Amino acid sequence: MIELENITKKFPGADSFSVDRISFRVNEGNICVFLGPSGCGKTTILRMINRLEEPSSGNIFVNGKNVLEVDPSGLRQSMGYVIQQIGLLPHRTIEQNVGLVPELLGWEADKTRKRVRELLEVMGLKPDEVVRKYPHQLSGGQMQRVGVARAMAADPPIMLMDEPFGAVDPIVRIRLQDEFLSLQQKFQKTICFVTHDINEAIKMGDYLIILNQGRLIQMGSPIDVLTSPADEFVLSLIGEDRGVKILDLTRCETLMEPMRETPDDLMGSGCFVQSIQPVKLALEVMMKKDSDHVAVCREEKVIGLLSWKNIKKHINRVSGEDE
Ligand SMILES: Nc1ncnc2c1ncn2[C@@H]1O[C@H](COP(=O)(O)OP(=O)(O)OP(=O)(O)O)[C@@H](O)[C@H]1O
Ligand SMILES: [Mg+2]
Repeated sequence: MIELENITKKFPGADSFSVDRISFRVNEGNICVFLGPSGCGKTTILRMINRLEEPSSGNIFVNGKNVLEVDPSGLRQSMGYVIQQIGLLPHRTIEQNVGLVPELLGWEADKTRKRVRELLEVMGLKPDEVVRKYPHQLSGGQMQRVGVARAMAADPPIMLMDEPFGAVDPIVRIRLQDEFLSLQQKFQKTICFVTHDINEAIKMGDYLIILNQGRLIQMGSPIDVLTSPADEFVLSLIGEDRGVKILDLTRCETLMEPMRETPDDLMGSGCFVQSIQPVKLALEVMMKKDSDHVAVCREEKVIGLLSWKNIKKHINRVSGEDE
């Protein structure tokens, strides 16, 4: 668990606070996403958590221990850090880059070598093809994968990830996000994840922290932030298609009317969705089947009916419009 208590940071000579009285908690196994415009303090917050910067005031606790009272190098080894702009060492091979922390921790060469290969593979790279290469010989997406592998090398319980997928095109980015989320299902790390991108934030975050000019503007789950944005600033970050984003996050079971049988043979005609699938998918099925309702199933049994009317009511309710 990571906890910040009233943290402030003012750099020497600066006339304003880069981080201004911020408090929050990241629970074990959660991904907490920091979102906000350039210069709002995201990187500074991560760097204070692993003590690359010292706060001007306030306290930071990691697993109940005050980080200002523990040895900084030990602290950093317990946290994987994917830095903005990847930051691979240019004159070291990929193998040496990924093995950096294990080497610092004094692992035996064989154990490190094995771990490096295992992680490169987990990250979707072919170890034999990349271990002897240098960073400049890889594509942006490959480098980003190596950056994440390096942060995971010593299996730290905590990961600080500063725009880890920022340097790749949108299609590769989506693939990296998906792969990372499925890894997270397995590894359940405690993660602080920085991004500029609202869609990435909604997709990756169990919890969002929205910042502007060093201040915390709103925190909450993605659906909380989408359905009740704190102010105009948050609304502008979310962008035009708030309704669509909400439909992407709302499960069919949330909006259905429970029932055991559907009025017509929706199952037989393929007009059904699974209860945990997003409402957006139900709309796609409705369009494809030219129907204004779909059956909602769980384990092949019908548990409800989801109608276009209910979806519309929900959108109107969350966007504060009358029906
Ligand atoms: N070492 C430093 N010395 C002085 N000012 C700094 C230093 N590091 C950051 N700042 C200032 O602190 C503020 C927050 O910077 P920070 O790097 O945390 O922003 P960010 O949210 O990560 O931005 P970006 O999205 O562009 O990476 C900025 O105004 C920046 O100029
Ligand atoms: Mg930054």
